[in-house]
Amino acid sequence: MKIIVTGGAGFIGGNFVHHIVNKYPDYDIIVLDKLTYAGNLETLDPVMDKIKFVKADIADREAVYKLFEETKPDIVVNFAAESHVDRSIEDPEIFLKTNILGTQVLMDACRKYGIKRYHQVSTDEVYGDLPLDRPDLFFTEETPIHTSSPYSASKASADLLVQAYYRTYGLPVTISRCSNNYGPYHFPEKLIPLMIANALADKPLPVYGEGLNVRDWLYVEDHCRAIDMIIHSGRVGEVYNIGGHNEKTNIYIVKKILELLGKPESLITYVTDRKGHDLRYAIDPTKIHNELGWLPQTMFDEGIVKTVQWYLDNKPWWENIISGEYQDYYEKMYGDR
Ligand code: NAD
Ligand code: TYD
Repeated sequence: MKIIVTGGAGFIGGNFVHHIVNKYPDYDIIVLDKLTYAGNLETLDPVMDKIKFVKADIADREAVYKLFEETKPDIVVNFAAESHVDRSIEDPEIFLKTNILGTQVLMDACRKYGIKRYHQVSTDEVYGDLPLDRPDLFFTEETPIHTSSPYSASKASADLLVQAYYRTYGLPVTISRCSNNYGPYHFPEKLIPLMIANALADKPLPVYGEGLNVRDWLYVEDHCRAIDMIIHSGRVGEVYNIGGHNEKTNIYIVKKILELLGKPESLITYVTDRKGHDLRYAIDPTKIHNELGWLPQTMFDEGIVKTVQWYLDNKPWWENIISGEYQDYYEKMYGDR
């Protein structure tokens, strides 16, 4: 099998490349990544001799067609995206370009050169949010699309386009919509790695609003296994929700990280809330469980311990990242919040 993994130098894509290299040593793996601020080749260091890496933009039609012509992939898994909600609120345009037009270019290449499977890595954020006082409600695959941020709107637009290419052109597609991931190689602008990095530096931990928003956290390896199952056994044209009933408030997570690192809760600083901040995400994973037998293997209390340990053991990886342009980003986002 030849598989193109776009966005493979990012958090989840990188973990997925590690997963595929280890599980399918006979596969040809090609990683296509633009190496934006969120892409990091060091994430691929341990597997670099087992993959081919191509630096390109998924929205660059010429570069994408050239790669497809040269490699004739069987499977394309599209992780490449602008992925941070806060950045999308500041400047939506690149989100539309990469997340929507990039998806279109990839699918056009799949049509032109032929493909066994195109898989779109999407998010539960396309369903909008759930109220905090209705713990009985969950996102199913039938929940209407109802987006809140420019990020989620761009991901939802891409999903609709993927479904249109299935219906109109018969492109063999699948879509997965996963809840919040955490684990190794997570870029420190996102909640969990940001709080770990700040706590280790004894810096304030900026909690938005009252910290009561709820996310449904999934250990990244569980997400990778789910995508592996979908691309090999999932039904063409279908959407699969991925999440493992690990709902936590943000403040619970921040306090847990402080406890694990032996740091004081006085580091917690409540800051101005995110605009349009989604209240609660919670996935019903019945479909992927019934059809493909997927279940999460790592529950939050175990996964967060492993994650904190990974950040302690891999300081050079993230210290490198937060020493560069990240400082300007941090000042802009949190300076006078
Ligand atoms: P990330 O920001 O860590 O990584 C994104 C990667 O895509 C980076 O390597 C970046 O260089 C690359 N990239 C960005 N624009 C590109 C372009 N135009 N062309 C080629 N490469 C480009 O993101 P992530 O958290 O790993 O998310 C991966 C995918 O999973 C995204 O599609 C995201 O929407 C989805 N997702 C993420 C989560 C989560 O909790 N992080 C949850 C559900 C779904
Ligand atoms: P994030 O990791 O950005 O993921 P998403 O917005 O895609 O769910 O944020 C997770 C939650 O943590 C979200 O409710 C916003 C909150 N948050 C903070 O309270 N402080 C922060 O500095 C960040 C980055 C996020």
